[in-house]
Amino acid sequence: MIVAGNWKMFAGPDPRMLAERLAGVDGVDAIVCPPYTELAACVEAGLTTYAQNVHWEPEGAYTGEISAPMLLALGVRGALVGHSERRQYFGETDAAVARRARAALAAGLGVIACVGETQEERDSGDMETVLRVQLAVIREECGIDDGLVLAYEPVWAIGTGQVATPELAQEAHAFIKSLLDRPVLYGGSVKPGNAAELLAQPDVDGALVGGASLEIDSFLSICEAAARSRS
Ligand code: 13P
Repeated sequence: MIVAGNWKMFAGPDPRMLAERLAGVDGVDAIVCPPYTELAACVEAGLTTYAQNVHWEPEGAYTGEISAPMLLALGVRGALVGHSERRQYFGETDAAVARRARAALAAGLGVIACVGETQEERDSGDMETVLRVQLAVIREECGIDDGLVLAYEPVWAIGTGQVATPELAQEAHAFIKSLLDRPVLYGGSVKPGNAAELLAQPDVDGALVGGASLEIDSFLSICEAAARSRS
């Protein structure tokens, strides 16, 4: 069970206090994905720390980007790639996402690669096609790499409070695994009140939490639900 907290562009909780509280939770791999400015403090606090993105080149003229060797030198253990906000607002393509993932894995970082359909794509019956394409490109670049974890984040469920039902999440996760057999986290409005039933699904291998990861109590409560779900 993996529970990753994506702090997005928020300062997030105090890393030391979070680390202290997480030390009391067994049976779950908790990961934090803070903004770049908080990476070092999270590493120093002993948190398993992932960046929110990573470039495919080790260095170069790529303003605003950060590379896998730079993250590794800081003690960062992995990176998200392909978050829907990157795809939606910053023009990340499937090909760029897969390139980022491949370079990060090759450098020795863990990767959480995000996939998911928009409301429009779901309504028009294109959900499976969208997932198929997103995953095919990742699979082609990365293969079935041990360091690769996937996250199913239906775009319509992110930050909306409109969580996928456990049945719908299970169905999507099983479909994703049929295309690329790696652990799949669910993301999109995961809260302490709905985490247990989502995490009880056999193909839901953890959660990628946005808003609820910004408060120590709610993040802890989701980590505890994850630990209980497989005990
Ligand atoms: P919320 O949990 O705020 O819906 O965000 C989900 C997400 O995008 C995590 O990466």
